Amino acid sequence: MLSALKLRDFRCFQALETEFAPGVNVIVGPNAQGKTSLLEAACVLLRLQSPRTSTLGPLVRIGSVGLVLDGFYAGNHLQFYYSSRRKKLALDSVEQRSAADYLKIGRVVWFSNADMALVQGGAEERRRYLDFVAVQLDASYRRHLRDYETALRSRNRLLKQPGAAWRQIAAFDAPLITAGTALTEARARLVEELSPHAAAAQLAIGGAAGEALALRYVPGVGDNFAVNLEASRDEDWRLRQTRVGPHRDELALELGGLPSALASEGQQRTLALALRLAQARLIEARHEALPLLLLDDIFGELDLNRRNALLAHLPSGAQQIITTTHFDWADTAAARVFKLENRLLTTA
Ligand SMILES: Nc1ncnc2c1ncn2[C@@H]1O[C@H](COP(=O)(O)OP(=O)(O)OP(=O)(O)O)[C@@H](O)[C@H]1O
Ligand SMILES: [Mg+2]
Repeated sequence: MLSALKLRDFRCFQALETEFAPGVNVIVGPNAQGKTSLLEAACVLLRLQSPRTSTLGPLVRIGSVGLVLDGFYAGNHLQFYYSSRRKKLALDSVEQRSAADYLKIGRVVWFSNADMALVQGGAEERRRYLDFVAVQLDASYRRHLRDYETALRSRNRLLKQPGAAWRQIAAFDAPLITAGTALTEARARLVEELSPHAAAAQLAIGGAAGEALALRYVPGVGDNFAVNLEASRDEDWRLRQTRVGPHRDELALELGGLPSALASEGQQRTLALALRLAQARLIEARHEALPLLLLDDIFGELDLNRRNALLAHLPSGAQQIITTTHFDWADTAAARVFKLENRLLTTA
């Protein structure tokens, strides 16, 4: 569990220090007090990555140079410093050159009221969903993803450069194919593993029988990356961008055999929750340790049945940090309740 968390110059907080309880922690506060930022800090401390942004720059408090996160998770001391010029990591007070050991310490599942975008948004949202859990399950995934993105960026930059020769552009094909194939294989495996968890979660939190949720991975490399990349040469040239590869992957969602776009608002909401729950269950199944569950403001929009079903379906025993503007829906006795107001966090 996350027992202690300290932040400095993180989002709206100049300095904040707190301790969490095992089990359920609830943070109650009006809008714009920093509830989401606090959960984000817990996530970044453990995973060095924010579910809200692709770069860490926006997390640094306006007007300061760098942010500091410091905390204890499962007895390990984690410290992270980030500025636009420098990143520093320490695990149990030993500075780390690579993030590999640091990232083995804790795993996170992030639920948010913005999760509807998983269903309603573009394919990019669903790729990010897959990546967020894949890097937590498979240490080599992060490297493949980085290698792929680097090769893709370089190839696209050359495609946009007037006068670049095809020979120069094609020099990036080999690293693109190597990393891209590894990503494609890993994502296909992941979707296969997530599917039964997602279907079970959908049913548990309000899906009706006959409305089974199915996940289908549609690889952007087609049937053969190398062949299709070569075949797309003229099109790449004309559009000045790489048109084939895992950056065009889709995770197709179907409910009772119909595309999720046709599902009702309520069905889509359940579906988004089911996708997050599936991540939690898969991490639980693949590891001895439970993930830290961060639930950002998701209860306001759920009816009582769904709320209770969701709480019942979370991996039991996992630590939860829940934010909300109104706390009138749960059993207070079982939770540690905090109040966040004027940048101050106090136990209620
Ligand atoms: N880098 C930053 N520097 C300073 N302030 C920031 C930074 N990033 C965000 N903020 C501010 O932090 C405040 C708190 O944002 P946050 O999203 O955490 O609030 P919240 O309590 O979750 O609100 P809501 O209930 O509306 O979701 C916002 O007013 C925002 O303008
Ligand atoms: Mg918020």
